[in-house]
Amino acid sequence: MKLFLDTANVASVADIASWGVLDGVTTNPSLVAKEGKDFKKTILEMCKHVPCVSAQVTATDAQGMIKQGKLYASWHKNVVVKVPMTVEGLKAVSYFSKKKIRTNVTLIFSVPQAILAAKAGASIISPFIGRLDDQGEDGMRLIEEIMDVWEYSGFDTEVLVASTRHPRHIVDAARLGAHICTIPVDLFKKLPNHALTDNGLKKFMEDWEKVSK
Ligand code: E4P
Repeated sequence: MKLFLDTANVASVADIASWGVLDGVTTNPSLVAKEGKDFKKTILEMCKHVPCVSAQVTATDAQGMIKQGKLYASWHKNVVVKVPMTVEGLKAVSYFSKKKIRTNVTLIFSVPQAILAAKAGASIISPFIGRLDDQGEDGMRLIEEIMDVWEYSGFDTEVLVASTRHPRHIVDAARLGAHICTIPVDLFKKLPNHALTDNGLKKFMEDWEKVSK
């Protein structure tokens, strides 16, 4: 399973990319607004670190999305055009698919939406599991159902588990065979840690000190 960072913070991308484990980045208009930096510069900086950077269109009609998406795709080969799951979005994705421009269909909350996005030719779909959990539904159940459908349908579209909130989401996504999981910075930075690793290393160092004097 590929690991993406869910952020518009370039320093965090550079930091985690330096670990050698990062496959891509997802941004969205809220994350970009939070950083308050120039959008194009942000995307181009991130493209230096990872081969796949999702940049979301903000137009709501297909023609507007196509215009924005073509511009984004012209910035760098690593840009993936992120399109919302609407009828207009499907029209835009279908256009991009014919032009071999990579797309990520965002804000997927149901299996029918996932199927439509795949049939329109999306390279990636992003089901948001944390937001379903937040309202008392089972987000991971959606991933399970999508992966079941994918097994029989033969779609090439990659399933990206989005809106992750805790390490269990990442474990379950991997066990279900999801292709990609995007992870917020704070959660990503927790993943290398375990109290037993810290304690074990402390003891190794103490014992080593005793004999190396
Ligand atoms: C994915 O591409 C989205 O940017 C993201 O995962 C949304 O997560 P949130 O529900 O924490 O905002």
